[in-house]
Amino acid sequence: MGAAEARLFAREGAQIVVGDVLEAEGRGVEAEINAKGGKAVFVHLDVTSEADWQKAVGAAQSHFGRLNVLVNNAGIGGGGRIEDTTVEDWDRMMAINSKGVFLGTKTAIPAMRRAGGGSIINISSAAGLVGTPAFPAYSASKGAVRLLSKSVALYCAEKKYGIRCNSVHPGGVDTPIFNPLWQAMGHEQGKALIGSHHPIGRMAEPNDLGELILWLASDRSAFVTGAEFVADGAYTTGLRRRTGFGPS
Ligand SMILES: NC(=O)c1ccc[n+]([C@@H]2O[C@H](COP(=O)([O-])OP(=O)(O)OC[C@H]3O[C@@H](n4cnc5c(N)ncnc54)[C@H](O)[C@@H]3O)[C@@H](O)[C@H]2O)c1
Repeated sequence: MGAAEARLFAREGAQIVVGDVLEAEGRGVEAEINAKGGKAVFVHLDVTSEADWQKAVGAAQSHFGRLNVLVNNAGIGGGGRIEDTTVEDWDRMMAINSKGVFLGTKTAIPAMRRAGGGSIINISSAAGLVGTPAFPAYSASKGAVRLLSKSVALYCAEKKYGIRCNSVHPGGVDTPIFNPLWQAMGHEQGKALIGSHHPIGRMAEPNDLGELILWLASDRSAFVTGAEFVADGAYTTGLRRRTGFGPS
């Protein structure tokens, strides 16, 4: 999703710092954007490291003069039932999915203030709105992102920083986060299975989320802050008809 967002933002004229622990993939996105006339810089960013965040924000300022937008997109999935979740599993999930968003937000705010304002978009999940029996640590880590986003939005509004903060809650998106499932049952079958759990009847593609995130980044959403944006094919909308009960 991060790569798709970077390509879309570049097409809209944004200058982009791409951060990831995956060096080759990140440099690939950087090269692709620059080859098409865009402006992108890759930095090695482990979102659990405050020092890495300072370098990433510093790269935005040194290469492009300022930082106006942060998309906190990095995350890991997986996990297991609550009885099987180890302390190490829990800490790793929280470190990347929750602490990473906290550190990115904390580091970006002073830079955005210097830039005169900005927009922070935190990628939570539909699983940050409702519980998931199979992935309790993931849901907890994404629920934390939802309320961190609202808290930051209120704080920045009170302080008149000109910085907005919103969360995005995707349903299932066809990305490598599902690699373990694709390996277990095949990509097409896995995709169909997850798609069948979404009332809309399919998984999302990474580009399905991009326009929403772009809009949140832009001044077109200038009055929008502290809000949550659900893009989940009605996954969390309500009770589904499973038994055929009631008129069809
Ligand atoms: N795919 C989905 O169905 C789905 C649904 C809801 C929310 N999300 C969320 O969307 C975001 C993007 O996920 P995706 O589906 O593109 O998954 P993905 O696995 O394709 O991408 C996640 C990226 O995060 C990076 N990452 C992992 N740990 C990192 C770290 N410590 N520091 C920096 N980068 C790190 C990975 O290298 C990878 O490039 C995640 O936060 C995920 O939880 C995904």
